[in-house]
Amino acid sequence: MTTNKTFTMIKPDAVRNGHIGAILEKITSAGFKIAAMKYTQLSKRDAQEFYAIHKERPFYGELVAFMTSGPIVSAILEKENAVEDFRALIGATNPEEAAEGTIRRLFATDITENAVHGSDSDENAAIEGAFHFSGREIY
Ligand code: TYD
Repeated sequence: MTTNKTFTMIKPDAVRNGHIGAILEKITSAGFKIAAMKYTQLSKRDAQEFYAIHKERPFYGELVAFMTSGPIVSAILEKENAVEDFRALIGATNPEEAAEGTIRRLFATDITENAVHGSDSDENAAIEGAFHFSGREIY
């Protein structure tokens, strides 16, 4: 994966609340192209591994339970400056602190059920994209 890609998930709360279409509209309107996409569900092991960096944090158990509570949409997105621009589009982790108009401000429930994931570095975007997609699933 090159540095113009990022990885996202539309999380179980946003899927349950019927926001897939609206969130994809925000993403594509902001100029992101879809390089890979799937509708899927994380196993407990997947979620534990994906969020392993947080395993000592007090919210880890709740986070894994939430992320396995229903289907998600995972995708690799392409755009110049993708990681930084996508983080700006989704807003702060806590939706109460997220800027007006950001995806989390519009669609998130709370700090755990916060509607979307966005990679925080080019390195993590590559790792996370490869975790969810094989090479031939990426356009
Ligand atoms: P983090 O990597 O800090 O945030 P971001 O998703 O904005 O990169 O945390 C990963 C996820 O962990 C976050 O999206 C939701 C969950 N989380 C909580 O449930 N409680 C918390 O206090 C924090 C900081 C994160």
